[in-house]
Amino acid sequence: MFTNPICVALDTPDAAHAARLARTLRGKVGLVKVGMEQFYAQGRDGYAQVAAEGVPVFLDLKLHDIPNTVAQGLNSLLSLAPAPAIVNVHASGGPAMLEAAARAVDGRAKLIAVTVLTSLSDHDIHAAGFDPEASTAVTVVKLARLAKSSGLDGVVCSPHDIVSIKQACGADFMTVVPGVRPAGVDVQDQKRVATPEAARAAGADILVIGRPITQAEDPAAAASAIAQALGVTA
Ligand code: C5P
Repeated sequence: MFTNPICVALDTPDAAHAARLARTLRGKVGLVKVGMEQFYAQGRDGYAQVAAEGVPVFLDLKLHDIPNTVAQGLNSLLSLAPAPAIVNVHASGGPAMLEAAARAVDGRAKLIAVTVLTSLSDHDIHAAGFDPEASTAVTVVKLARLAKSSGLDGVVCSPHDIVSIKQACGADFMTVVPGVRPAGVDVQDQKRVATPEAARAAGADILVIGRPITQAEDPAAAASAIAQALGVTA
């Protein structure tokens, strides 16, 4: 899939800063993640600045709308040059939306789904209308199965959901995993963390890692140390 599973969350609205980070990390990581804070501020030009650095981009915009609008939105995103390697939607958009998204992407990028946002507490999840009888873990697997049966390539999930999702959806169904912290590094605001090695051992395909790399004194050295711990050659 991706030889180097490290995806660095650039997490800045400033495309020039993001592009500098991408250049520094080229060859050390497999992907960079560009999110809505940058895309809504600097749009296609900002994206192009980052993508031009040659590291594949996970464009994390989490689309959620009626099927036709999501399909057209994805078509617009896939006309970016170079096209993003990964794009995503919310699984809770339902089967028709997910199927339309998969048809629109048509293999041009990996299409993954957000199941339940990990920022939601049990109370929030029920307030948002998810099944009050089901645990969050059960809801996550249910939405992962829906993403799989709708033709998506994988999901974003916490380190603790990897095993149950792989069991339900198969080893080839991608898990893209944030909440990753090398041993001894500050967990910051992340609640349910795993080391890169533990997340990989559980079956994570991509490790989304932000601040432990971007805010390190030497981001390239921090990324290389993680790659080395994982036994991946960049
Ligand atoms: O800096 P840190 O490693 O915590 O960054 C993690 C990245 O993964 C951020 O871009 C964050 O928004 C994203 N993310 C997350 N938890 C999720 C989904 C995405 O931390 N459940």
